[in-house]
Amino acid sequence: MTRARLERDFERFKRDLPRDFPGHVRDVYHVDLTARYLGCTLAHPIGKGSGQLSLNVGQLEDDAAAGLAFVVLKTVIAQDEAGTRSMAAWAIHETRMTVERRAAADGREGWTVSWKGRGWDRSLEEYLGLERTGRDIATATGMLVVPSVKYHLPRLGEAFRTEEYDYTTRRLAEAWGEPPLLLEIDFSPTLAGDALADDRAQILRWLREVPGRVRAASPVPVRLAVKLMNARFDDAFQFAMMDACRNADALVCFNRLFDAEKGIAYGGWDLSDRNLRVLGTPGSRPGSGSPLTPRASAGQAGLTGTGNICSGRMVLEYARRGCESVQLHTFLQLPLSEYPATEGSRTRRALHALMFDPRDGVIAGMLELEEAGRLERRGGVLHFLDVLPHAD
Ligand SMILES: Cc1cc2nc3c(=O)[nH]c(=O)nc-3n(C[C@H](O)[C@H](O)[C@H](O)COP(=O)(O)O)c2cc1C
Repeated sequence: MTRARLERDFERFKRDLPRDFPGHVRDVYHVDLTARYLGCTLAHPIGKGSGQLSLNVGQLEDDAAAGLAFVVLKTVIAQDEAGTRSMAAWAIHETRMTVERRAAADGREGWTVSWKGRGWDRSLEEYLGLERTGRDIATATGMLVVPSVKYHLPRLGEAFRTEEYDYTTRRLAEAWGEPPLLLEIDFSPTLAGDALADDRAQILRWLREVPGRVRAASPVPVRLAVKLMNARFDDAFQFAMMDACRNADALVCFNRLFDAEKGIAYGGWDLSDRNLRVLGTPGSRPGSGSPLTPRASAGQAGLTGTGNICSGRMVLEYARRGCESVQLHTFLQLPLSEYPATEGSRTRRALHALMFDPRDGVIAGMLELEEAGRLERRGGVLHFLDVLPHAD
């Protein structure tokens, strides 16, 4: 009965997915998609990761119209009042992106976006304008729009450029409006490919110190998500990085892998395999004590998944490992022929597939978990957040 209904919805929404699909899912399927990002309640777990798809107002408007839960703006490079940016090498201009197939180590064909660019390449003023528009869109539509920053990352023994932290954070807080300021801090994969990130102690120092420095720089209360890179070390180091981020409110796990030969970041199945493996290791979750160091006193940072999320099933894989929401990039820029929907923006088509695909969608996956006895209804309703492992 429910399956037949799902097939029917999948077919009819190919032409037009209702913006309030979470309401529809609740009414018809008794499935509550409520999710969280940085302590904020979301109507559903799907958001857009920082990158080339959150650079302008048109993209934000399309995403809000499609019903995306949240968008992280492209990463801006911090600067001081005079405009000096120690991380200026990350603000290079590059427009050419190629969406292409990439085979994983085990041969599975996935998608990746090849691109040699890095951070926001226009002025801070323009970025603040986009942030303000994002705030207005959030007020009007409920789609959260959050800025992302790459701050100065010194070598060991070098001091942090406090002026860059202070100036950029203050300007972002002014443009944000009502506190708390929500902010993502990017430690990007191209950084993983840089000599700066060769030293483990250096990376751990950044993760320990940067959130506190941003808090100190903010004139208003701030909630911080730290987007962790996939460093060029082993899984144990990924745990050590998570463990070092005790002063973050959320962790985004984990940004793309780095192909040193080609000099570019990449995604696909190797990325989700690694991320899920690390997140799925017992004790890896913040607050639960990592295999390396116990985190007895650590805060309870919320997790957000990112990496090769191209189906509802994959959303649930990240959720089963503790992710309260997810951030996509690649699946929001595939060739149109890859989506089952026939009309609408890529975001709308992606949401349609992620939610309503009768085999691989979130609804189908949650019903399957229920049948397998791994998810129980409360008050007759299945809850997305109940998919997360619960600390007892
Ligand atoms: C072209 C491109 C540019 C990106 N730029 C940024 C960025 O500026 N800041 C950031 O935090 N992540 C950036 N990302 C990472 C994405 O937000 C996302 O976390 C990552 O690509 C993994 O998700 P995916 O497999 O769905 O693409 C970028 C990704 C791509 C493909």
